[in-house]
Amino acid sequence: MTETVPSQDGLPTARRCPLDPPEELGKLRAEEPISRMAFPDGHLGWLVTSHAGVKAVLGGREFGSRADLLRAPIPLAMAAQPTEVSPGMFTAMDPPEHTRYRKLIAGWFTMRRMRQLEPRIEQIVAEHLDAMERVGGPVDLVQAFAEPVSALVISELLGVPARDQDRFLAATKALFGVHSSAEDAIAGWQGIREFLLELVAAKRADPAEDLISQLVTEGDLTDQELITIGSLLLVAGHDTSNNQLALSVHALFRHPEQLAALVADPELVPGAVEELLRYLTIVHIGSIRAALEDTELDGHRLAAGDAVSLSLSAANRDPEVFEDPDTLDITRSASSHVAFGHGVHQCVGQQLARAELRVALTALLRRFPDLRPAGDPDQVRMRTDSIIYGVHELPVTWGNHTES
Ligand code: HEM
Repeated sequence: MTETVPSQDGLPTARRCPLDPPEELGKLRAEEPISRMAFPDGHLGWLVTSHAGVKAVLGGREFGSRADLLRAPIPLAMAAQPTEVSPGMFTAMDPPEHTRYRKLIAGWFTMRRMRQLEPRIEQIVAEHLDAMERVGGPVDLVQAFAEPVSALVISELLGVPARDQDRFLAATKALFGVHSSAEDAIAGWQGIREFLLELVAAKRADPAEDLISQLVTEGDLTDQELITIGSLLLVAGHDTSNNQLALSVHALFRHPEQLAALVADPELVPGAVEELLRYLTIVHIGSIRAALEDTELDGHRLAAGDAVSLSLSAANRDPEVFEDPDTLDITRSASSHVAFGHGVHQCVGQQLARAELRVALTALLRRFPDLRPAGDPDQVRMRTDSIIYGVHELPVTWGNHTES
């Protein structure tokens, strides 16, 4: 089959329920899991919504991530800019170029490394819980906890001084906002790069025990490559964990029986983290690939150069793989989710994300077993305007503090 009429005009993003993917995606997955989609730039490509289809594309050598072939599935300020790949931008490369960079950093994100880092994560988490307790509720969990904890943890790993964090946090917001102007987004990216340039110079002069120092001393990389890799890790490593953590707490508030089970039995936390990754799928607009050659996907003929938008959110709600997929059930085995992607570009920081989420959720609920929303959960502003989904803020309270 080679359909030429698009079923979709861009990737659907409007949600009826804030915690569920757009309804059109579920409908497509049931009726036409590999469908034609018109991209905002006019290209006629494909949209894949089934778990099997998403895994086949992400795992297939006949699909690539080369920047010159990729297109944004929704209108984005950054997409309006000419495609320019900075040296070292390995997310937009295929093997073997991609493999060379990936090998340089993968060793920093192994389970073993994460076990070593865990006491430091626990310390950062405890310091922020202490501060929350001192101030008293209500507080915004994003500002007081999720954002600083995730920023500090990735900074620690990379070797970014804590005093520099405000600079990169502001730049990240400008970069990821769907409504950021092209100027804001470019300024955001440039701000991060300038900051990284200074950091690389500082590490060359005085290397320490951190990822950037090791890349500087052992990686045989140019400054431009180092800046790009550092920026990628900083941005990807911070905005994701932050949003997954805050959105997880919001989802648990909306499912009080699941929250109560978790408070009663902290042993459930690792499984809950996996289920929350599946259920929430914060990378709700990516991923994108393109066919590198003429190929076939579940009976559909794709031509070389066809862009493919993959809905990880729809794949993670596929009833072929997950029983009763729209139910949040922290006791299910959710490990076959694709919230971290699949294949050669599968999230390099996934063990770090898991460690952060596990430590943070366990400590938060242990410290404040009666943690609850401060105010109406329906009024929480969702990050529909960002390529990483989440909540803009999450007012919470505990103990005898008033709700608002
Ligand atoms: C790749 C999700 C946390 C760094 C990815 C991809 C997904 C993802 C879906 C694959 C994108 C694609 O193939 O198109 C997430 C989620 C996170 C998270 C849901 C947290 C809940 C992190 C952290 C880091 C990180 C903590 C730390 C540095 C990266 C990098 C890539 C990536 C560098 C690109 C890998 C490559 O191209 O080889 N992530 N991520 N992520 N992630 Fe994460």
